[in-house]
Amino acid sequence: MPKLYIETYGCQMNVNDTEVVFAILGAHGYQRTENIEEADVIMANTCSIRDNAEQRIHGRIAWFDTFRKKRPGVVVGILGCMAERLKDALLESGKVDLVAGPDAYRSLPDLLEAVSEGHPQMNVELSREETYGDISPVRTDKNGVSAFISIMRGCNNVCSYCVVPYTRGAERSRDPRTIVKEACDCVAAGYKEVTLLGQNVDSYRYGETGFAQLLAMVAGISPKLRVRFSTSHPKDISDEVIDTMAAWPNICHQIHLPVQSGNDRILEKMRRRYTREWYLERVARIRAAMPDCGISTDAIVGFCSETEDEFRDTLSIFEEVGYDSAFMFAYSERPGTLAARNYPDDVPQDVKVRRLNELIELQNRLSLESNRRDLGHEFEVLVEGPSKRDAGELCGRTGQGKMCVWPDAVHRPGDYVRVRVLDCTSATLRCELV
Ligand code: 5AD
Ligand code: SF4
Repeated sequence: MPKLYIETYGCQMNVNDTEVVFAILGAHGYQRTENIEEADVIMANTCSIRDNAEQRIHGRIAWFDTFRKKRPGVVVGILGCMAERLKDALLESGKVDLVAGPDAYRSLPDLLEAVSEGHPQMNVELSREETYGDISPVRTDKNGVSAFISIMRGCNNVCSYCVVPYTRGAERSRDPRTIVKEACDCVAAGYKEVTLLGQNVDSYRYGETGFAQLLAMVAGISPKLRVRFSTSHPKDISDEVIDTMAAWPNICHQIHLPVQSGNDRILEKMRRRYTREWYLERVARIRAAMPDCGISTDAIVGFCSETEDEFRDTLSIFEEVGYDSAFMFAYSERPGTLAARNYPDDVPQDVKVRRLNELIELQNRLSLESNRRDLGHEFEVLVEGPSKRDAGELCGRTGQGKMCVWPDAVHRPGDYVRVRVLDCTSATLRCELV
């Protein structure tokens, strides 16, 4: 049986896509390996979101090429967003035998067969229908506790900085029956938590079923199953979704709500289609329904023409919301996007880096403050496994998504435990069992 090795980059959606690829190729006799040395087929499932993500993967392709040279017959394939964006340019490098975009994975067995006959292959066709809804992903997580379930693919928002609508195509939602079936399969296999994934889960719609209904359907499978989701769009997150979260004890109180910028002129230029005021109203609505809700965000600094004062508005909205955690990035121009076509990338690199460091420093303080507010409080935590630092300790997350560690020689991954917070850093809550 040929052995298949896949490295995954980028978002959680890509992690799940890799699991779909293992399922498709597994059905054609390919066996998964985590050891690149023994692989007959080496693949990278790639990300194009920022230039540095792509640069890293170019480095990996050069490394894969050394295996191709050492062992003739080894096939190198590029999947995902970079495959979709760079297309033939990847084949022309001479280091890649196969290029397949995010909607082309069902054709991988055929493409691999043609490659084995000595012809490089490419399929980067995007689809309006493909959701891989009927495919049961081969789970690749280590602990068997938490699984990703894609509920939709693509994106129709076209934020001006973002490459995703070009690499993942138009938005389409998956049949809720296949989603519920997949979640039931996870429960039967011992999973205790599912994360529903989409670029913009709030615009999920399949016939009569919107995202709030879907959440309730999945939460109704078992009270012992934790339900999370990502990503919400501030312009679309509805009262109905917020109230559904509040109503079901097993839907985790955690929302990832990317703000991108705190300044209205920049938000408009980013084509986010909400204002600072609208965003803050959504946060207030979330907190009114769920005072304990964890809120995290993404932000970009140094977007085209961003002034110092406009950047200060991003600092101040971070301060005002008091995020529990955040992913922060320097703007990276992506070829073909609205911003790349219409606005010069004119904030100097050193200014971007300085603003980014300032924002990260602020968020470190906010994360620490958020964690300090939990000192002395009790939480229900789902055990994920041993902590990274100390084998005598376990780790797991609160419903709000905060990482806890505590000494424990008794419990197993997948157990629910109650802990009390004794101490914290900006990243972790140190706890004891209660
Ligand atoms: N440059 C920098 N960051 C970006 N993101 C998306 N596109 C870009 C870009 N061109 C960030 C956004 C998004 C997250 C996944 O990546 O903050 O929410
Ligand atoms: Fe990267 Fe975005 Fe593609 Fe995910 S959807 S792999 S984050 S470019």
